[in-house]
Amino acid sequence: MSTNATPLDRSRRPRSGPRRMLLAGALGVLGTITALAMSVPAGAAASTLGAAAAQSGRYFGTAISAGKLGDSAYTTIANREFNMVTPENEMKIDATEPQQGQFNFTNGDRVYNWAVQNGKQVRGHTLAWHSQQPGWMQSLSGSALRQAMINHINGVMAHYKGKLAYWDVVNEAFDDSNGGRRQSNLQATGNDWIEVAFRTARAADPSVKLCYNDYNIDNWTWAKTQGVYNMVKDFKSRGVPIDCVGLQGHFNSGSAYNSNFRTTISSFAALGVDVAITELDIQGASATTYANVVNDCLAVPRCVGITVWGVRDSDSWRSGDTPLLFDGNGNKKAAYTSVLNALNAAGPNPSPTPTPTPTPTPTPTPTPTPTPSPVPGACSATIETVNSWQGGFQSTVTVRAGSSPVNGWTVKWTWPSGQTISSLWNGTQTVSGSTVTVRNAAYNGSIAASSSTTFGFTANGTAATPTATCTSP
Ligand code: XIL
Repeated sequence: MSTNATPLDRSRRPRSGPRRMLLAGALGVLGTITALAMSVPAGAAASTLGAAAAQSGRYFGTAISAGKLGDSAYTTIANREFNMVTPENEMKIDATEPQQGQFNFTNGDRVYNWAVQNGKQVRGHTLAWHSQQPGWMQSLSGSALRQAMINHINGVMAHYKGKLAYWDVVNEAFDDSNGGRRQSNLQATGNDWIEVAFRTARAADPSVKLCYNDYNIDNWTWAKTQGVYNMVKDFKSRGVPIDCVGLQGHFNSGSAYNSNFRTTISSFAALGVDVAITELDIQGASATTYANVVNDCLAVPRCVGITVWGVRDSDSWRSGDTPLLFDGNGNKKAAYTSVLNALNAAGPNPSPTPTPTPTPTPTPTPTPTPTPSPVPGACSATIETVNSWQGGFQSTVTVRAGSSPVNGWTVKWTWPSGQTISSLWNGTQTVSGSTVTVRNAAYNGSIAASSSTTFGFTANGTAATPTATCTSP
């Protein structure tokens, strides 16, 4: 059986009494998590990384490649040692939306299914990133790209809704040296692209923890670390939904481990987010440095887990650096033993912080406009609020065909109190004063009889659900 502790286990852990080990058989992450507490003698050491991390309510994960799931040497180690899985490339934008509007989850599902069938949780990686964009996205800009990003988040998150533990919503958005944003096509759509991504993600799947993930934010004195820290602080103060920060932890001569790493982890945690080390690899795999990294995480209650970026050195994206815990033959390296010992030396998490439910952004009860009785050739439209926050909200509009098919539609409404749309997807808008007119996009004008399509938007102002009219030519 695989040992597995979810971050949730930490909040359920008895705060005193004999040392206990929680063995949670996660039967998928679809909500059924069976946890049974088993007393183990004090001082008993766990023999795998996942079980050792579970003793303090943490996980130990690895990146998994779909293409290697047929390699039994690989899957044997991966299955035995780890209880969290990040698809190395399979849930990235180029993999999941190779053509605009056409999603492909074949390889993402391979990794996901392997993980849950073996009792592991999954960390989604990644929804919005300047890198590994499909060609069609690389050539977009402005509002078309902004809408494509929103559509992508909605499309991928709908597929994995309720199934994942974490999502890296935005990856690597900061500049390497000046503490500001990285220049990219996404950044050029406006500085608010990151918060729009997080708000869209929260509305798409309120069950998953939403993370910002980056590299070279390990050293507390670096401008990039401070830049990300200030963004997270700002998001928390304004109620932008963010639950976690991922420190990739790619350590090498140009970006060496520094003992202030612990300050970085605890400073982020103090903002009220979970922290995880998400892509750990260390050039040369010094056993001491690996132990230091693990001990830094163990010292901070809200450091929820560690993921190494690959199983064996030969699986690493930087295989020449031999940066991982197993050599190319699958043998445990000295770094493996030092990590296992460090995890085993940790007692139960000293002061477990209850895993917070995502900052409650009140989701107003949808107040649908009454659906008019179907008229042949006609259509109707209903506006629903799906998410709201201080100063803004997100809505989904359902456009429904009557008893005959619709070919082209126009939806119109008037805002009651000065609302303005900041971003709209799956349609094209024209605004005249407080009246908004939305026409179908090129690909969703045809609706079969008695069927529907949707478009969505984010807007500034107080959430409102005005009555919308729908006309079809
Ligand atoms: C890397 C993968 O390991 C490689 O297979 C791929 O060719 C490039 O991407 N930061 C990230 C990861 O967030 O997605 C990257 O993974 C490594 C750096």
